Formats: sequence, structure tokens, C-alpha cells
Amino acid sequence: MKCSVRKGDLTQEACDVLILNAFEGWKTFGGATADVDKALNGLLSKVAQEERFTGKPESSLLFYTHNLIPAKRVLLVGLGKKEDFCEEAVREASAIALQKARDIRAKTIVSILHGAGNGKLPARQAAKAVVEGCLLGGYEFLKHKSKEQSQKNPLTIELVTRNSKIFRQAQEGVTLGEVFAKATNIARDLVNEPSEHLSPAHLVESAKKMVQETKGKISIRVYDRAQLKKMGAEALLAVARGSDQEPFLVHMIYKPAKAKKKVALVGKAITFDSGGLSLKPPEFMETMKIDMAGAAAVIATMSTLPILKPSVEVHGIFGTCENMPSGKAIRPGDVVQAMNKKTIEIFNTDAEGRVTLADSLSYATKQKPDMIIDLATLTGACMVALGEEIAGFMSNDKKMTELIEKAAEQSGELLWELPLEKRYRKLIESSIADLNNVGKSRRKGGAITAGLFLQEFVDDIPWVHIDIAGPSFAERPLNAYTKYGASGFGTRTLLEFLRNL
Ligand code: BES
Ligand code: ZN
Ligand code: ZN
Repeated sequence: MKCSVRKGDLTQEACDVLILNAFEGWKTFGGATADVDKALNGLLSKVAQEERFTGKPESSLLFYTHNLIPAKRVLLVGLGKKEDFCEEAVREASAIALQKARDIRAKTIVSILHGAGNGKLPARQAAKAVVEGCLLGGYEFLKHKSKEQSQKNPLTIELVTRNSKIFRQAQEGVTLGEVFAKATNIARDLVNEPSEHLSPAHLVESAKKMVQETKGKISIRVYDRAQLKKMGAEALLAVARGSDQEPFLVHMIYKPAKAKKKVALVGKAITFDSGGLSLKPPEFMETMKIDMAGAAAVIATMSTLPILKPSVEVHGIFGTCENMPSGKAIRPGDVVQAMNKKTIEIFNTDAEGRVTLADSLSYATKQKPDMIIDLATLTGACMVALGEEIAGFMSNDKKMTELIEKAAEQSGELLWELPLEKRYRKLIESSIADLNNVGKSRRKGGAITAGLFLQEFVDDIPWVHIDIAGPSFAERPLNAYTKYGASGFGTRTLLEFLRNL
């Protein structure tokens, strides 16, 4: 799929489909949609009325132009209520348009710049949102389908505006939208890949390949079992013990010349979570290939840095292994020591993410960054609290809380703060070690006790923990551009965060 922006007149564009729009409850069309209606002698509005096109989100109307204008068809899409209008509405409308255009096997698509006129969005944001909607909405994971092939003919999407003043901005928006969406789709590919094809070693290979493609702009260090032992990463090694797969710790570095800040991004990277000896019931295990979605977002984010060129030093870190039961597996009641010397009593081997993160976060802390963000598919409890679309986040720092909230808002990803309540700290005490890996309250407040556990490994460095267990994987469509499967959640928030610094 190729996206671009051009100056032009939509009434004069030859293409398979011309995408236009209307708000919910429309009486007359506005902007370029009105111009095209005029060129069609008012037929478009007539048909739209007859067909009761509402303009609601996800509504659409396909109209054959019969050579009245050079475009073969017009596809009208609904933007929803004008008062609710925002970038998210543009993403969703663009995704719907792309999917409808693909259904009719269109090859050339010309689109109005949704929202840049009547919607009053800055052209840069409008263009970015259109491109994100198209590229995310057009995503498919067909690698393991033997027959069903994606439509092979490459689609081209041209955004056309007659306003030459906003052209530059729109062009910037297209480039940004492409970077954001492609990165998100990289994360989706990694998360959708079954564990058999994405072992810890495969995940390391993916990171190395990404780094290679940056031609020296990003460097990488990979620590294997022997090196992890020397470093004292006993917590990661303990979780890895039950599996036949080798564990690794990966450290990617992006270091621009005049960096203002140093940020560490840490991802949970369990390539399959069976629960270990505290084995999960079958239906809870079905989608546990997704338990490396945090690391996927980190790898995807790193891949964009040579293009986005933020003036921050970024360290991408993940400790990866598989959580399996076997004669060698860690047992409930065992005690392990993390890299920062704190000891952990393992009561439940299914709370393995926080145990591996104990070492990844200790390692990140040793790099002395100005801030740390970790992303982890950490707790079912977070999903119970916030549902499938909203990630929970916790932070030890007010300023970082504000920064992450702003970034999430810009990205369209939903984040909600949970308290790192000090009074719950007693719940993760152990009678024989420094910490217990599960809260004494069991599932009650489980996302928070997990956050409090992680806090023990970041010292006083400003830190945000994002629990992405809910939104990482869509078991049903979450919105027009996130259908069944991996969502790539977190990638776009991280990118906005880094760009804002
Ligand atoms: N990977 C899971 C959390 C998870 C659940 C992610 C559902 C995505 C969807 C995590 O390792 C886990 O099993 N957590 C346990 C912790 C409990 C044993 C304290 C949970 O949430 O049940
Ligand atoms: Zn688990
Ligand atoms: Zn897990």
C-alpha cells in the first residue's frame, strides 16, 4: 500500500474509488464533498438521502458515477457526530473506506483529507490519521493460510487537497502516519506469530534483523544463559528453567549526537506462558503466544528511531524466555535472587512476567536512564478492572504520568491510571524472602500489587509501568482498524512520548 498527498481538484481525479465524507445528521454536504456533488448534478446527495446514508461511524455508501466525473465510483463514509469529531474518527472512517475499497478490488484510491476543512483538524494530524487508519485497517496476518491470499495488486492511496497552504503539513502527516502504522504492524506481526515460530531465539533474531536494517544507527547486545548467570540474572533464568528454549537478554541502543535525555524502554517477552507448574487451564492458554507483546512494541518503536530522529538516547531492553512446566521447572515455594540482589519467593509460577521483569528492570536501572517505561501483558486483573480496550498504567512520578497521558491521548490508545498504593505494599511481603511474587489478596487489586512488585527494581528513577494485558490482543474487533488478533498496542504511545521529549 502506497500513500501520498497531492494538490488537485477532487472533481477531476481519475481513480477506481474517490473517498468523500459527511458528518452524522448531515442535511447538505460540506467542502470538497459538496463540490463533487455539484459536479454530479446533485445526484450524490439525492442517492445518499434515498439510501438513508446516516453519516454515523462505520456507515458508508458506494455510488457509481457513470462517467459524470473521472472517478469511477464515489465512496461516502460517515465521520460520526461533528461535536465528537477527532483524529480517532478519521482513523476509523479511513479504515472503513480502505476495507470497502478493497472489497470491490479497487487499485487506485483518491481520498479527501478528512477533517482538515470542516472538522478543523490541523492538516498534519488529519493526514497522519488518514494514513494510520488505512494502513492499520488494511493489516492482515495471512502467513499461515495455505490458500487465502491477500489481494496482490498494490493499492495506492492519494490524498488530494486543493488548499496549497496546507500541502506541506499534509505531506509531513503522511510520512508520520506511515512510520507509526508500519511500526504498529511490525509489532502485530511479532505478536500474531505462533510460539513455535517465535521462540526466544527467534525474537532475538527479529531484533537483530531490525537493528541490521538501521545500518548502524542502532546497536545491539545479546546476553545468553552463561552471561546471564555471570550478571546474576537468576530471576529470568529461574522462569526459563522449565523450558527447552534458551533464554536471552537483549539491549538495543539508539544514541544520537546531542541527546537531551536518556530513556529506557523495557518489554515483557515471554514467548509462551503456560503458567509453568502453576499450569493455566486450557482456555486461558489459547492466546498465550501474545505474552511478548511488550517487547514487540519496544522492537517496533526502536525500528522507527533512525527515521523519526528524536533527540533522546533510547535503550530498548527485554529479557526473553518461555514459561513451561517440566522436571526442571521452578516450583512454587522456591526462592530466587534478582540482579539487584533482592530475593523473591515464587508462590505462583504463573506470575512469571514480574519475575523476569525484575531482572530486565534491574538491568535498565543500571544503565542510569532519566526515565524508564515498561510495557507488559502482566495481569488478568488489569483486564478485569479496565476491560479489553484500556491499558492500566502506574507511575512513581507526576511529570511522567502527565507525559504518558498526553502521548496516549495523541496516539488514540486508551490508558488509565491505577494507584501505586503504599498501603498495599505489605501484600507482597514474604515471610522467608524480600518479596513474594503474588499478592496476599490473591486476585484483588492484582494489577496494583504487580506494579508495586516492579517498583522494587527501578530504584528512584522516574518510571511508568503499562499493563497491556487487555488491549494487546483483540478477541473481537476493538474498532474499525483493529480486527481479530494482535493490536500492536503501546507502539504509538511510545512513539508520541519520544517525539514529545
Ligand atoms: N501473561 C499473564 C497475564 C495475561 C492474562 C496476559 C491474560 C494477557 C491476557 C500473566 O503471566 C499471568 O498469568 N498473570 C497471573 C498472575 C497471578 C498468578 C497472580 C494472572 O493474571 O492471573
Ligand atoms: Zn503467567
Ligand atoms: Zn505471562
